[in-house]
Amino acid sequence: MIKKILLSAFLLPAAMAFAQQYGGMWIPTELNEKEMKDLGMKISAKDIFNPQKASIKDAVVQFNGGCTAEIISPKGLLLTNHHCGFGQIQAHSTVQNDLLSNGFWATNMSAELPNPGVTVDFIVDIKEATDQILEGTDNLTEPELSKKISNNIEVYKNSQKIENYQSISVKPMYYGNKYYAYTIETYKDIRLVGAPPQSIGKFGSDTDNWVWPRHTGDFSMFRIYADKNNKPAEYSKDNVPYVPKHFLPVSIKDKNENDFTFVFGFPGKTTEYLPAIAVEKIMTEIDPAKIAVRDVALKTLDEKMRVDNATRIKYASKYASVANYWKKWIGEVEGLRKSNAVEKKVMYEGSLVAKNSEIKTTLDQLNKLYTEQAPYALNNAYYSEVIRNAETLALANIYSNYITAVEAGRMDEKGIAALKSKLTSFYKDYSPELDAKVTAKLLALYANKTAPQFLPAGFDKFKNETQNIQNIEEISKNSVITGRAAVNGASLSADIDKAFSNQDKLVKTLKKDPVYQLFANIKDTYTKTADPQFSSLQTKIDALQKKFMQQQITTDKERKFFPDANSTLRVTYGKVKGSSPRDAVSYGYQTHLAGVIEKYVPGDYEFDVPKKLIDLYNKKDFGNYKDKGGDVPVGFTATNHTTGGNSGSPALDAYGNLVGLNFDRQWEGTMSDINYDPRFSRNIMVDTKYILFIIDKFADSKWLIDEMKIIK
Ligand code: ARG
Ligand code: ASP
Repeated sequence: MIKKILLSAFLLPAAMAFAQQYGGMWIPTELNEKEMKDLGMKISAKDIFNPQKASIKDAVVQFNGGCTAEIISPKGLLLTNHHCGFGQIQAHSTVQNDLLSNGFWATNMSAELPNPGVTVDFIVDIKEATDQILEGTDNLTEPELSKKISNNIEVYKNSQKIENYQSISVKPMYYGNKYYAYTIETYKDIRLVGAPPQSIGKFGSDTDNWVWPRHTGDFSMFRIYADKNNKPAEYSKDNVPYVPKHFLPVSIKDKNENDFTFVFGFPGKTTEYLPAIAVEKIMTEIDPAKIAVRDVALKTLDEKMRVDNATRIKYASKYASVANYWKKWIGEVEGLRKSNAVEKKVMYEGSLVAKNSEIKTTLDQLNKLYTEQAPYALNNAYYSEVIRNAETLALANIYSNYITAVEAGRMDEKGIAALKSKLTSFYKDYSPELDAKVTAKLLALYANKTAPQFLPAGFDKFKNETQNIQNIEEISKNSVITGRAAVNGASLSADIDKAFSNQDKLVKTLKKDPVYQLFANIKDTYTKTADPQFSSLQTKIDALQKKFMQQQITTDKERKFFPDANSTLRVTYGKVKGSSPRDAVSYGYQTHLAGVIEKYVPGDYEFDVPKKLIDLYNKKDFGNYKDKGGDVPVGFTATNHTTGGNSGSPALDAYGNLVGLNFDRQWEGTMSDINYDPRFSRNIMVDTKYILFIIDKFADSKWLIDEMKIIK
């Protein structure tokens, strides 16, 4: 395939192969201040990040380890996405008091709801630490190299003077060619302040997810609480609202196409510097495999969720998260094709080799390794997706790890407590009957799609889906793992303490359990036949990718490189813009409340609209929040290069005022994780006008608006 591509690549216009306008996720201490100013920025890089003085970074936090959030009042009021706070909103919901459906608005601070376990992280400082971390590693290869680096990281951390409420995290950049150290402060008392009903916060749900034009009010609000000295503390009713060093003023000015914006947050993972062969494998083998597994899981869950309310609530969060990447991968595959990602890479590699012939050796080796790894990588993709989505097997996996730990003498009181709490939350949102069906169908898929050498002996019997559904239900019914059979006189899902009261007995019973035996057989075969080769080839690929990265940087002097996203704080910038993703299709940059009403389907689980919002629309009761066209703007797009983890990130204007809340990307551009293309890649934000309109007019929570600094 690569050869064929090589030919067709020469037919592409050269400009297209190298066009790379904007794009990039920059470390805040290394901003392209000049380009940002040329694009319209009116503040300086130091206003964005300054460890010595209050700066915008003091208002941007990582929310619960995944998303981003920002502070928008002097009283620690936090704004993030509805889908980022979804787990917390769901946790406070019951069938009788369904905050997902009805929304939640605290009427004063004492009504705000605590969320044990939720944290936010501030980045206090960023320092490059490459020399210290790579010291003495020059001639080492794996596994000595990893050991030495971990050791150096420990030494580095211990050498830093920090407060007892701070920690240091050291992260590799450019595939380990550089290292950066982050000083972090973690706050632990985070309370839910407000969330619109999901008919606003998740409007359009999975149908509209990753889609533009978009009309989702994807926001929720929390508040950071601190001890009396404004320092991090565990939850206590005596804690007080956190006083930030900086909070973001909220702009409700109209937006115009080409306005400068930047997005400040914690992008999770990108792989922009892979060789063509890796991109081709993702596009033609890995993504399609993962999509196929999730197709089956989602369809099976959906059938039940549509007809049963309790199941809908139970599975809401899980379903959304499985559907999210399923749909993203579909868009990614299309986008990679459409943007000629592989061809572009092949051409780029050709131009690199022309300048530096050593790169040819690196690429030849990478091609060979990826080709050799392909069958193992494919099995790895199917195996991991099946185990993740067949929850009964995922549970068995937890128990299998437990047994291994017990037998190795590694299970202590603390480990047991953590395990019990993990299992309890798993069982809370698990339906064994429903999942028996999912598991049965996924096993059939696994049996049909996996090369025979990776399958346990006799696995052919799982190829028939209908037969499987009966068989797995039978196994599930008689299993202690599913909670349907008892151990130590109790069900693991109903009384975990009792079920764990005699652990010898528990381990013995688990080992004889039919679900456990089924899973152990699959895992064993995978661990013996595919995993060792997959991993050892991956180690070699990683080492070469590090070299290839370095060669790209030293050879392509014209390009400005940024390190791939790795959940560290980054700035991306661009312009407010619509797009033309297909022939004769062109998208505007802004949607409005009128579009919400256009999409309205009464009673629909994705497109229902609350009556109050319809009334406000009919009365044109828009307060300060309409734009020059007389309607309330809802969402807008720009060319900012974002990824998963940027959800909840602030979109700021030229002056550093909040103008939008990032929450998604346009489907046609989701290959931006691998190949950002300014023609199709757009980030999607909720307009601040819509957020304030909902808080003020829909939720009658003016007390929250009064806390903010509004720029009119
Ligand atoms: N696609 C967005 C992101 O990756 C939003 C996901 C949440 N919404 C949903 N319907 N699943 O996180
Ligand atoms: N929706 C993503 C998030 O949750 C953002 C993205 O992938 O564009 O972080």
